[in-house]
Amino acid sequence: MLHPLVFFDDFFPLAVAWFPNVSWLDLSGNNFTVLPECIQQFRFLRYLYVDDCEHLREIRGIPPCLTDFSAVNCKSLSPRSTSVLLNQQLHQGRNTQFVMPGGRIPRWFEQRSSGASISFWFRGTEFPYKSLCVAILLIHDIPSPLEVSFIVTFNGNQVQQGWRNLIDQLFIFNLERCSYYYESLHLERGWNHAKFSYEAYNDYKEKVPSESIAKEIGMHVWKEESSSIMEDIRFTDPYKMTQLIIMMMMLSIAFPNHKKKPLLLETCIGLWTLLFLTHTLFLG
Ligand SMILES: *[C@@H]1O[C@H](CO)[C@@H](O)[C@H](O)[C@H]1NC(C)=O
Ligand SMILES: *[C@@H]1O[C@H](CO)[C@@H](O)[C@H](O)[C@H]1NC(C)=O
Repeated sequence: MLHPLVFFDDFFPLAVAWFPNVSWLDLSGNNFTVLPECIQQFRFLRYLYVDDCEHLREIRGIPPCLTDFSAVNCKSLSPRSTSVLLNQQLHQGRNTQFVMPGGRIPRWFEQRSSGASISFWFRGTEFPYKSLCVAILLIHDIPSPLEVSFIVTFNGNQVQQGWRNLIDQLFIFNLERCSYYYESLHLERGWNHAKFSYEAYNDYKEKVPSESIAKEIGMHVWKEESSSIMEDIRFTDPYKMTQLIIMMMMLSIAFPNHKKKPLLLETCIGLWTLLFLTHTLFLG
């Protein structure tokens, strides 16, 4: 009987010597324990898959052009050992897609939301997919393996249900990945509301309720120097902000005296209570 080829730790130094120019390596289901430093010598390696490498417990090197990394069901890989994959520089301008077990969403994802969806508002003639990076964190003991597909809703209309991807607990990817979905978008003048979420499927292609597996979702906006992207993206509803401003103007009309003389204590308390209420009602 022919045994399938199984690679151990001695594979990498040989591989770097024999085929230094590979761009794609699928090493799923092998027996090595370490991704050694020498994999940095794969100068053109963009895709590296190590799914089901159950003995893999350490990552010491990252190829310089890596864009796709998948470590689904690598049970020995700890959050400490995957932390090297969470570096912001590794994902910036690289259109990456990384799947790995465990850990948490890196701190550089400035916007977070618990559960399986995140909302934001943007304006302009184009959906700013090139500037957005998403991180999905699932609960610790997911019924693996899971496949997810992504759902983006614009102004209430679901416009795409993207490709499916095998994932583990932590999935980081740049939205530029699925740019072709966004090209024919009909955008409104002013602020557009976008909601990003996902659906999950188990091994038997049955839908798994996302509430039962979702932990957190994070979003990062790539800000290039001299770019004004942050003026055109908001994570709180700009229309509610407008309502709040109108409310405050109405209050100042209702209490016109405060410009002429110091506010009475009662008026002051009343005003602050109203402000507090509008704030919690509209922005909460
Ligand atoms: C790898 O690429 C380099 C530069 O592009 C080239 O000089 C070299 O011959 C290639 N090596 C192999 C084994 O193909
Ligand atoms: C890979 O490791 C597993 C678990 O230690 C072992 O059962 C299996 O025989 C190994 N494979 C080879 C080809 O040695």
